[in-house]
Amino acid sequence: MRINEIETPAPLVDLDVLERNLDRMSIYTAAHGLGLRPHIKTHKSPRVASEQLRRGAVGLTCATTHEAEVMADLTGDILVAYPPVGAARVNRLMALPRTVNLMVALDSAEAIESIAAAAKAANRPVRILIECDLGMHRVGVTSIEEGVRLARMVVERPPLVFAGVNFYPGHIRSPKADQQEPLKTLNHDVQDWLRAFEKAGLKPGIVSGGSTPTSFQAHEIAGLTEIRPGTYCYNDREIVFTGAAAREDCAFTVLATVVSTAVPGQAVVDAGAKALGREPIRSGAGEGFGELLDHPEVTVKGMSEEHGILDLTHSAWRPKVGDQVRIIPNHVCIVTHLNDFIHGVRGDQVETIWPVAARGRTARV
Ligand SMILES: Cc1ncc(COP(=O)(O)O)c(C=O)c1O
Repeated sequence: MRINEIETPAPLVDLDVLERNLDRMSIYTAAHGLGLRPHIKTHKSPRVASEQLRRGAVGLTCATTHEAEVMADLTGDILVAYPPVGAARVNRLMALPRTVNLMVALDSAEAIESIAAAAKAANRPVRILIECDLGMHRVGVTSIEEGVRLARMVVERPPLVFAGVNFYPGHIRSPKADQQEPLKTLNHDVQDWLRAFEKAGLKPGIVSGGSTPTSFQAHEIAGLTEIRPGTYCYNDREIVFTGAAAREDCAFTVLATVVSTAVPGQAVVDAGAKALGREPIRSGAGEGFGELLDHPEVTVKGMSEEHGILDLTHSAWRPKVGDQVRIIPNHVCIVTHLNDFIHGVRGDQVETIWPVAARGRTARV
C-alpha cells in the first residue's frame, strides 16, 4: 500500500527516522554508562518498546496500570513512575505477572502503607523509588528529610525494597544553550539529596531521571544511573523548539487531506482536534497546533473536532482540494493516544501497521 491510498486522517511513523532516533539514544546512554529506561507513554506500542529493549534498554517506564500490563509481555523490569494511590490501582499492579520485578515511584506515607499491605498480602517484593521534586513542582517530596523518612518507612516494610530515588526534570524545556544554569542547579540538588541518603545509610542503588529535552546532557548530572526519555522515539514540534531534536528527527506525522479551500487565505484539512489534540506549544515559542512537514511556514491555526484550518498567509503554496499533507503535531504523546493503529512507512510505502495496544485504561480481559 502507498501512503496516498490511506484513508485520512491517519498517523504515520517514518521507520527510518524512528530507528535513527532509537539508535541515537541507545548509543548516547551506552557511551556514558547510563541505563536507558524509556517511558512508553509516547508510543504505547509493544512494537516500539521491543525495538527499545533490543537496543539495550534496561527496562521500561510506564504511567498507567494498563501500560504496565501490556508491557509485562516484553520485560520483567517495569517502573511505574506514577503514585500508586487507590485500592483499584494497587490491586491491579499486584496482579501483574510474577515475571515482572515491579518498581514504583511514590512520594507519600499513604502510598507506602497501601502498597506495603498489598505486597505483603500478595507475598510479592516491590521495589520503591522515592520521588523527589527537583524543580518541576508536580509530584515528589520537596524536603530531603521527608525523602529520607519515607525511605526508612520502606525499609521497615518488607517485602517492599528501597531501590533508590526518582525525579523528572520536566521544568527544563528551554533550548539547549539555555539549559546550563538549570542543569547546574539540578546537579547541585541531586548531589545534596544523594549525600543525605548515603549519610542516613540508605544509598540509592537507582537514581532515575532524564527527559527528552535534557537527554543528551544527562551525563552532566553526577550519580544518575538511568534516564527515562519518552518523546525521543517520535519527537514533535515542542521538542524541536527545545533543540533536543531537529525537524528531520520528527518520525510521527498525521496524514490529512485538504477538504476545502473555499475561504481565501486558508485551507481546511480533515485532521481536527480529534486527530491532532489541542495542545499549545508550552514554551510559547510557536503558534498553532501543528505544522506541515513539507511547508514549515504553514501552521494549523484553528481546529474544530474534525476540521483543521491551515494558515496560508505566510506561504506561496496553494493546495488543491484532495491534496494530502503531513502534519507534525505539537505534542505527539497525546496524538498517539487518539489512535488505535499506526502506519509504519518508508518513503511513500506503508511497510507495516501496528496497534497502540496500551492506549486507554481498560482492564485487560
Ligand atoms: C515521570 C516521567 N518520566 C519520564 C518522562 C518522559 O519525558 P519526555 O516526555 O521528556 O520524554 C515523563 C514525561 O511525561 C514523565 O512524566
